[in-house]
Amino acid sequence: MELSKNMRNSIFLILLASLLLSTTRCKGGVTSTYRRRLEASVDMPLDSDVFRVPAGYNAPQQVHITQGDVDGNAVIVSWVTPDEPGSSVVLYGTSKHNLDKMKTGKHTQYKYYNYTSGFIHHCTIRHLKFDTKYYYAVGIGQTVRKFWFKTPPEVGPDVPYTFGIIGDLGQTYDSNTTLSHYESNPKAETVLYVGDLSYADNYPDHDNNRWDSWARFVERSTAYQPWIWTAGNHELDFEPSLGEKEPFKPFKHRYQTPYRASDSTGPFWYSVKRASAHIIVLSTYSAYGKYTPQYRWLEEELPKVNRSETPWLIVLVHSPWYNSNTYHYMEGETMRVMFESWFVQYKVDVVFAGHVHAYERSHRISNIAYDIVNKNCTPVPNEDAPVYITIGDGGNIEGLASNMTEPQPSYSAFREASFGHAIFLRLRTEHMLTTHGTVIRMERELQQMKNGSPTGTGFQLPIS
Ligand SMILES: [Fe+2]
Repeated sequence: MELSKNMRNSIFLILLASLLLSTTRCKGGVTSTYRRRLEASVDMPLDSDVFRVPAGYNAPQQVHITQGDVDGNAVIVSWVTPDEPGSSVVLYGTSKHNLDKMKTGKHTQYKYYNYTSGFIHHCTIRHLKFDTKYYYAVGIGQTVRKFWFKTPPEVGPDVPYTFGIIGDLGQTYDSNTTLSHYESNPKAETVLYVGDLSYADNYPDHDNNRWDSWARFVERSTAYQPWIWTAGNHELDFEPSLGEKEPFKPFKHRYQTPYRASDSTGPFWYSVKRASAHIIVLSTYSAYGKYTPQYRWLEEELPKVNRSETPWLIVLVHSPWYNSNTYHYMEGETMRVMFESWFVQYKVDVVFAGHVHAYERSHRISNIAYDIVNKNCTPVPNEDAPVYITIGDGGNIEGLASNMTEPQPSYSAFREASFGHAIFLRLRTEHMLTTHGTVIRMERELQQMKNGSPTGTGFQLPIS
């Protein structure tokens, strides 16, 4: 059947309009084709050197520290003794050769199906001086191991500081590459960890020995700088078929948070201040509906943020709210619906999420106008809204998430399925004042766009 000229013209105009609309929708979005060379997305065997058990009877292992209060002059030191409880004492001081202070912590232990944990020690040392290097020792009276950390500068608007962001790390060869790359950055001072740690639950019966091996693997960083923990789905370990009905049991025993200091009633949602940043950690897998403890805490927490003291307001959550990857698509939607309007109201700067094993950065957009009848259900530019960054590409056994929705949605500024981490540099007032309302870019994005080819090393996140 031959179409009339008018009909052909009409179809042409419709096609042209569709093309223009789709071009408009895709404005600014970049989908990188770069893939960092993969090692093997298989876990390193338990006899790998990264999992080595330290020498000596009952030697402390799996040493890790995290912030112990709101302002950063307390540290929670945690470690495991495998053979007997031993001592929960931490000796510490500012001189390497004179650990003149002492604090005694507590130890705990748990069973998970047919696994019994070692003796897990937690000790909070307080009243530390800001911006000071401390040395500490654990394993007192048995096999002593020594480490050090540096406290942050006092909280304030003009305090530069450098965070690393890592998520979904796991314990594969790629995980090791990611961690080594992170460690090679001399400026990185604290890790904001966006959830999914060991992936032990991928093993038969959630083999908790893989929780131990993971903690030994990351000790080379976690013993020397705080990692701020976010709970992910791989921390749930909820497995009624094994008789394990207590969510987060291994994670809760092994990784403490300073939640009480920020008036939280649960360990997985809390806040800390560090340098010029106020960091709010939320739990995707704890209740957050109206009137729940997490909802009520966040409702009271956001008005407390003093932007003249901490101009940066950062949120960590596991499941992303804006995700144009088919992997875990829309899983963060219910939390977005609950909290996004608050984030716009309080002008959150950036929301970091994991879960999706790829990288993606949004424009500053919001989707808060929708009321189920008005059809305003498309994200729109909003200078008060956060930038959303998904960085769940640490390198775990589940591999990359490389299937992205097409065309790239207008809210998505840049996306790339490649393993890595991020560095959030130089958080200072002047950057805050000049960058809020503009674009935060990863250095790796800039390199991609500039060179059109991978550098293989660009995994930094400065403020542009
Ligand atoms: Fe996840």
